[in-house]
Amino acid sequence: MNLVLVGFMASGKSSIGRRVARRLGFRFTDTDHFIEDEAGTTIPEIFEHEGEAGFRRRESRLLERLHRLDGYVFATGGGIVTPPGNVERLRRLGLVIFLKADPEDILRRLEHDTRRPLMADADDRRERVMRLLAERLPLYEQAHIVIETRGKTPNQVAGEVIRRVSAWRGASEPAPSSGEPAAAAPPPEGPAS
Ligand code: S3P
Repeated sequence: MNLVLVGFMASGKSSIGRRVARRLGFRFTDTDHFIEDEAGTTIPEIFEHEGEAGFRRRESRLLERLHRLDGYVFATGGGIVTPPGNVERLRRLGLVIFLKADPEDILRRLEHDTRRPLMADADDRRERVMRLLAERLPLYEQAHIVIETRGKTPNQVAGEVIRRVSAWRGASEPAPSSGEPAAAAPPPEGPAS
């Protein structure tokens, strides 16, 4: 099985994903880095040359391919849930975990960010964050598991992810994909990056 971390920009998906992967013996990958490696350029460049729509197409195409992998923790870009069909694609890829960060924490972390095009071109970052959050929350909340991160360290959140995943898997509801966890069976080779 795979674990898929979703959530807004700067909600800790990569740092928590890495910790969870290390503790479970899963592999870790990040869809943003995957797309940058594949395109041979940066996300701001992709936004500049292909627009946000071009970047979203790359994310959606990537999701179609990732489901061949097993034993991974995927951190995803904050807007990956927005194209129609992607929430379903994410849910097919693995157990989807929404890291629900506090909007004020998000704003503080993004205040001086220059790396993310949707922040860099915003006249009013608070307005941009609040609008995108309102649009995306109903999509993030279609995750299998929702974890509030406010006031918790990355290690605490990682521990909670692991506990909630094992409780979810132990519950009567069937897991989204079958197979042994990577800790019991070594995961396959990852995508070239
Ligand atoms: C985006 C989030 C970014 C990256 C791109 C667009 C978004 O990823 O995919 O800048 O639309 O929220 P992070 O969530 O890792 O910052």
